[in-house]
Amino acid sequence: MILSLLILPLLAGIAQASPEELEQNLAYRSPYVSHPALGIDTRQVYKRHLEASAEVRSDLKKRQEQTDIPSGEDSEYPQPGYGLGVTDWSNSNYIYAGDLNFTHSVASGDPYDYSVILWTRAYPASTYRVDIPQCEVQRWSLTGADVDWTVKVEATGLSASTLYSYQFENCAKPDNKSPIGKTRTAPGKMATDVPTQRFAIYSCSNYPNGFFSAYSGPVVHEDADYVVHLGDYIYESGTGGAAIGRVPSKGAELASLDDYRRRYDEHRTDVDLLSMHQNIPIIAIWDDHETANNDWKAGSSDSNDSISTGGCAYSNGTVCFSDRAMHAKRAYFEWLPIRQVDLGDQARIWRDFRFGDLLDIYALDTRKYDRDITDLSYNTDYVATLAQDLDSSRSMVGPQQEKWIEDGLKASQDRGTVWKLIWNQVILGSQTPDQATFTINYDAWDGYQGNRQRLLQHIYDQSIDNVAVFTGDTHATWLFENNIQATLQGSDDITTLAASEATTYDHQRGTVVEFGGTAVSSSGWGNSWGSYENSTVAAKRMVENNPTLLYSKGYHRGYMTVSVNYTHLETYWYSYPGNQQARVPNNRTLAMRATMEAGMNHVQRPLMTPTFGAIKPGF
Ligand SMILES: [Fe+2]
Repeated sequence: MILSLLILPLLAGIAQASPEELEQNLAYRSPYVSHPALGIDTRQVYKRHLEASAEVRSDLKKRQEQTDIPSGEDSEYPQPGYGLGVTDWSNSNYIYAGDLNFTHSVASGDPYDYSVILWTRAYPASTYRVDIPQCEVQRWSLTGADVDWTVKVEATGLSASTLYSYQFENCAKPDNKSPIGKTRTAPGKMATDVPTQRFAIYSCSNYPNGFFSAYSGPVVHEDADYVVHLGDYIYESGTGGAAIGRVPSKGAELASLDDYRRRYDEHRTDVDLLSMHQNIPIIAIWDDHETANNDWKAGSSDSNDSISTGGCAYSNGTVCFSDRAMHAKRAYFEWLPIRQVDLGDQARIWRDFRFGDLLDIYALDTRKYDRDITDLSYNTDYVATLAQDLDSSRSMVGPQQEKWIEDGLKASQDRGTVWKLIWNQVILGSQTPDQATFTINYDAWDGYQGNRQRLLQHIYDQSIDNVAVFTGDTHATWLFENNIQATLQGSDDITTLAASEATTYDHQRGTVVEFGGTAVSSSGWGNSWGSYENSTVAAKRMVENNPTLLYSKGYHRGYMTVSVNYTHLETYWYSYPGNQQARVPNNRTLAMRATMEAGMNHVQRPLMTPTFGAIKPGF
């Protein structure tokens, strides 16, 4: 079904908008609606509108003075009764009558069975910068400089499992419309006959590092209903890009709110990213580079708030970490069509989605919510000692999120939901200390081994079936079968596993299959080997030395798709050639495919012979 969610060409006097009405544009709530001092104080914005200077007001044409509107019935405007208690639109006092530029097309995200988040950016094509009231069929929404001209509304009252189109429209000029977007609602929470669900899964889109050809995949091939982004949607660095004409506009690391906003602005000029957003709803979670490299709850590798280091001595541009993190989060909430699930809870983004009895999604925040100290390059040895203490309360996600994911997985199992999918930023599997090829990444779950063990132990103890984790971060491709025994065997911690448990462990119980996807455009471990052949030699050593690792590939950029029905979960890894130094939207290659059969808790053998990369010998 196609339903047009039109933004009606209405405009009331700006002075009639109340703070509550401002907040109908969810961007005004970003990210702390219950703590206005930390975000946007809409009461102040409202007051400012009331006190707008005569000069600004004179730029807004009085509706009655427009000569091109026929008198009497005004078919271009909705009938009385819509919005704000206004009953006669023709008497609205002020109108912004200029053109709007929908500078970054449209986007949608976080599909529920009854609602979806719709996004656009409406920038006035005029010399003055006033707030632009807009409205849609259910309510008004306003936008302005306070929210970087972003518009983010929740369209509600929708039908489940339905394809919709939508369009924003300039209130003052009905012909001035956004591109038409397509979006989709999720299956009903209680649905029992859910059709195959298809996701395209991304991470690590670095604008100066390469083109975003991979985003074109699900648009060109129409093989995904939803897009998932596992983090590093933008990068904070100010370098690179000269060879491909994508030099960042700010040649330094991001620090201010405007820095972060302009970086989203810049990333969203990529045509394949724009097209993907216009056509498919996204479920996004952030990783570190939406703020700064290897950030955790109280710092990053180059910024913190520590008094002992002389105030903000490590900080970029003398901006303390907490300020920088606040700017980064606010820009993220403004520019991504993401729900704000509990604004009073440290701007958390971890959240879940239920797709009938077919699958539940748990989208984690392993990064910014409550992560204990991570590897910041200058403290690696210290973190390494913390990481291996299995009895420590040290956590990657924080106690509240730990309880949520454990309770959630158990509830999914008890409800009879077949698949439990986890969107996760950093590798869960144990990355073997094969020092010749790879050093342990203490910024990933290997740095939080007690937390990992608690999670895997819970899945094992509760006999939770069909858990699949999808991971970004590494700019490389991985297939792990994680369980307590095998994971500990892959690290120094095997000595802590009781001998009896090692011999009685049921390999088909409590195994969490992990699908790690490569980057959209960021280069990494695989590229450091200089050639595809060399990187594959390294990948071979990895799969041979790591008992939990079944497949590895390092060289190409690309993305994953996963298609899920009641009997199978099938993941495809796609590669794009040329390390993304040119745009190649129609040039993907299937690198590898792996399938889980429901109830088996591992991937089927024999594995496909991969087009790129290496599989474990004998598998
Ligand atoms: Fe990345």
